[in-house]
Amino acid sequence: MPENTQPSVIGKPQIRIDGPLKVSGTAMYATDHNFPGMLYAVPVEATIANGKIQKIDTAAAEKMPGVRAIFHRANIGKISRSTPGEGFEKICIERRPPFEDDVIRYYGQYVALAVADTFEVAKAAADAVRVTYDKQKPNVEADLHPDDDPEEVATSYGPVKRLESERGDPEAAFTSAAVKIDQTYVKPSETHNPIELQAATAMWDGDKLTIYEESQSIFNMRDVIAQMFGLPKENVRVITKFVGSGFGSKLWPWTHCPLACAAARQLGKPVKLVLSRRMTFQSAGHRARTQQRVRLGATPEGKLVSLQHDYVYERSMLDGYHEDCGEATAFHYSVPNLRVKFGRAKRHIGTPSDMRGPGAVPGLYATESAMNELADELKMDPVKLRVLNEPKIDESLGIPFSSRHYVECLDLGSEKFGWSKRNPEIGSMKRDGLVLGWGMAGAAWIAARFPAEATIQLRDDGTTRVACGTQDIGTGTYTILAQLASEKTGVPLDKVEVALGDTTLPEGPTSGGSMATASVIPAVSEAASKAIKALLLLATKTPGSPFENRKPDDLAFENGRVFLKSNGTTSGVLFADVLKRANVRLVSGHGASEATFGNPKPKLSSHSFGCHFVEVTWQPEIARMRVNRVVTVIDAGRIINPLAGRNQIEGAVVMGIGMAFLEHTTYDPQNGAPINSNLADYMMAVNADVPKLDVHFLDFPDTNLNELGARGIGEIGLAGIAAAITAAVHHATGVSVRELPVTLDKLI
Ligand code: MOS
Repeated sequence: MPENTQPSVIGKPQIRIDGPLKVSGTAMYATDHNFPGMLYAVPVEATIANGKIQKIDTAAAEKMPGVRAIFHRANIGKISRSTPGEGFEKICIERRPPFEDDVIRYYGQYVALAVADTFEVAKAAADAVRVTYDKQKPNVEADLHPDDDPEEVATSYGPVKRLESERGDPEAAFTSAAVKIDQTYVKPSETHNPIELQAATAMWDGDKLTIYEESQSIFNMRDVIAQMFGLPKENVRVITKFVGSGFGSKLWPWTHCPLACAAARQLGKPVKLVLSRRMTFQSAGHRARTQQRVRLGATPEGKLVSLQHDYVYERSMLDGYHEDCGEATAFHYSVPNLRVKFGRAKRHIGTPSDMRGPGAVPGLYATESAMNELADELKMDPVKLRVLNEPKIDESLGIPFSSRHYVECLDLGSEKFGWSKRNPEIGSMKRDGLVLGWGMAGAAWIAARFPAEATIQLRDDGTTRVACGTQDIGTGTYTILAQLASEKTGVPLDKVEVALGDTTLPEGPTSGGSMATASVIPAVSEAASKAIKALLLLATKTPGSPFENRKPDDLAFENGRVFLKSNGTTSGVLFADVLKRANVRLVSGHGASEATFGNPKPKLSSHSFGCHFVEVTWQPEIARMRVNRVVTVIDAGRIINPLAGRNQIEGAVVMGIGMAFLEHTTYDPQNGAPINSNLADYMMAVNADVPKLDVHFLDFPDTNLNELGARGIGEIGLAGIAAAITAAVHHATGVSVRELPVTLDKLI
């Protein structure tokens, strides 16, 4: 081997290159940035959910020492409304700029903003602002009945037909089916709760605006904020170096960001605004409550003949975020007659938004639960039922799958779990005095690419730098980019510099939809090819170079070395030596790749697949229900970093345990407030709730999506897990809980 040849780093477990920065506390999160003269802003939250502001009395607050300003509608200055772009651009879930009118549409809506020299004074001043309201009773009714919406509705992501998918005659096929299931599954509102709170620090330099915010999509934020302040987008810079998780809550700008920008503009100083945990429950998105009716019809042998999925979700008074529960329904199983349709119900709540696995996670909870109930009705093994209904193509679009290995997932999961030993009789399986419940469910999640750009530098000290304006939301994007750059340039990981999280860098993808990794691969690959091309040209032009007067086509690059093709890969010169000989500090290349997401006429149906097998233990004497064991198998194409990949799936399963047993944002029927808006009252799964998690990845690279065959893994682990858990609960107790979370009162 030539001296610096290194084995491929793709597909090898890599510890995070940013790990040392994080554990030593030197990683700079958005709120860690402080600036001379910086002021602190604290919003005043509406204490009603429906009504109008009558009067805002700021006199007492303004008199407090250290207070710089109390802003409200009359003095905040102009904030314009942003408008959506042509495609998946300028996304903003709550379009109404803060303080645009006096109408209150949800509890916690910002009505004023206190700015002071310290956070403590700003908080005291915000508390001292007296707001009087013309108050009406809010509608936060949990039972959802669809509003009288037109057949095509406007949503945050553009117009959507309420009849999402249809084939055959599902009504007639259901009516005449031998075996039927007709059940409704309810999933309550849930709140994201990343540990890092949302925050924005904004500062102006003339008509240039810089924002430090923990965004999952810095370029989208730049474009939206530029519109709100009437600026060319070049004048807005968004910086997000590290994110303490987002789960979707930080995908799109919320109203605190323009408030910080407007206050900084009015005062001519940097302004920092950090939300309280309570505010994140009120005004920074949540997963919508859904009620989903699923009707399945099957032959006595278990072949599906009809599938109807009718769901309704809550929306806010302001905007129409679309919770696409039907995302996976129309292609997941083979069924000739199908209909997926949705309705929406307006409520006086903050606008719901994407939360990890939006649409598919609640959707698969319902459809996979119905599949399990159908299996029980048929007295058939639920794995066998799924295998029997495996489709050959995507029947909703009539196109092949890019790569689908769902049955292999089911096979491996069954084997690792020991599923063949399952006795289907309720409460029949026991161990150590505990009743065991076994359940399973399938998973699917979209695989696609956003547009992406990247640059690669090869430098005369033998290092490389890869730059891409995407962001690492805790999933390991720094490490993935380092692996990609290392693979292409032959530079070992510890000599790769990764730059991301800044809109001055080449435009990178949104960290959402589990698409960032798949998106950056072609861009980084092209950037590396171009940097190498520039290097080879330089080598032929450098006097005294061993390659002087050769044609670039005679040369090749591999593993960090330039060599003559005719001499083979063991010959050649390190790229650093080529650069040094030419007295050139670096060569660089730029790569760009197109989106596949949103393609109206795809040739292939691209999704990841998976399944979960769950064992619960039940102690009826003391009503103790625990998840005891989970086996998860994921078919997500090539896994670039199995260490970070496993971490994503495990985290999602933990979240799924929370979804099944604990998570539930409840609204006060009197004032419309999310009642449990803090980490003491909003229950989430913690270490004590989590057993050993056994995660397996199948290895079927999906090279239709990118050259490495990598799809995404951030969300699929949460799909299906709640249905597997409720099936296990049913197997142990005989109780079918169809409204999450599964609380003990529902079992006894
Ligand atoms: Mo995810 S909900 O796309 O951050």
